[in-house]
Amino acid sequence: MQAAVSAHRNPFIPTHHGSLTARRSKWPNTTVRMSHREDGPTVAVVGVTGAVGQEFLQVLSDRDFPYRSIRMLASRRSAGRHLSFEGREYTIEELRPESFDGVDVALFSAGGSVSRELGPVAAERGAVVVDNSSAFRMDPGVPLVIPEVNPDAMGHIRLKGRSKGAIIANPNCSTIICLMAATPLHRRAKVVRMVVSTYQAASGAGAAAMEELELQTREVLDGKRPTCKIFKQQYAFNLFSHNAPVLPNGYNEEEMKLVKETRKIWNDMDVKVTATCIRVPVMRAHAESVNLQFEKPLDEETAREILKGAPGVVVIDDRAANRFPTPLEVSNKDDVAVGRVRQDLSQDDNHGLDIFVCGDQIRKGAALNAVQIAEMLL
Ligand SMILES: NC(=O)c1ccc[n+]([C@@H]2O[C@H](COP(=O)([O-])OP(=O)(O)OC[C@H]3O[C@@H](n4cnc5c(N)ncnc54)[C@H](OP(=O)(O)O)[C@@H]3O)[C@@H](O)[C@H]2O)c1
Repeated sequence: MQAAVSAHRNPFIPTHHGSLTARRSKWPNTTVRMSHREDGPTVAVVGVTGAVGQEFLQVLSDRDFPYRSIRMLASRRSAGRHLSFEGREYTIEELRPESFDGVDVALFSAGGSVSRELGPVAAERGAVVVDNSSAFRMDPGVPLVIPEVNPDAMGHIRLKGRSKGAIIANPNCSTIICLMAATPLHRRAKVVRMVVSTYQAASGAGAAAMEELELQTREVLDGKRPTCKIFKQQYAFNLFSHNAPVLPNGYNEEEMKLVKETRKIWNDMDVKVTATCIRVPVMRAHAESVNLQFEKPLDEETAREILKGAPGVVVIDDRAANRFPTPLEVSNKDDVAVGRVRQDLSQDDNHGLDIFVCGDQIRKGAALNAVQIAEMLL
């Protein structure tokens, strides 16, 4: 399978892929793919030069997403640059309202302000927008969808026979990774409280943050003062509270996304969620420690079996070998990995579990989830 262009590959990805769903990655590519089809939708990739935008192309290619044509859209800074995808040459265009004329599916990953301004414009012009930003997630009229978790939230939004556009929101990357693992357990025993601690990678802050982490690492090893442009403090060989703005209640915005989005996705306004989000100097893929409290008892063996059968989830839980999920192992993978499945000793009668979850947040936490939504539109 041919891959899309990407300037942001993690050079440290192991060649051994364990039991995770393997994904082929070759660059550059030269073959004209079958996914280019006259009866497919016209797709716009908004923010195509970014970390998520590049992954959109990768995922579209990996999954043979059928398309008639693709518009490669970014800011004025990138307009006119050339890009090769599936054996064709494209010129990146500056994003404008007219960019959406004739577009069926618009995959947005150019930040919240771009989504707020041009998402509704794209929808008015007939496109179904799948938006990666937080702009519309909590809008009651906008479905917030993880296909494995709440596909029904999309209602009847489809491409066929539609007369007008729509907006569908992709949840926050940490929420997606957490709920991929927590939802199968929630369905069995009903989560009443969830405590999440995240260990979030540079990739979650975009391509420039990944470059800064690499640069800082070299600088620190060379005994130089690290360049701090994206983050206000040293990132290499350090960790710090997530860079999202801190709110009056003391939580930062990233933490509150986990709280609010979980309630919306589970359609359960009573579930109690608290979170602490931390940036760690990992290039790509987030890790999360999740403590769950259940209404009904759930033993760890049953939980492990439920997780093994859950779509998009793989269990890596080898206590004897002390082998559990790592960000490195899930990088560039579709599946979310779960391990450290154990009874929470602080809760009585099997009413609590601890799990450790890792997932590639550019992939399942962003591009893959959005393309899966787009597939459900076909
Ligand atoms: N990274 C993640 O893991 C992740 C996960 C979930 C959601 N998201 C969300 O996805 C969005 C993009 O994230 P990212 O990590 O891909 O960021 P990024 O690497 O910084 O890329 C940003 C992209 O947006 C484009 N852009 C910026 N301003 C624009 C404008 N005014 N008009 C048109 N295009 C513009 C940039 O184009 P130029 O190159 O031309 O500047 C670039 O293609 C954000 O909303 C982010 O919150 C990211």
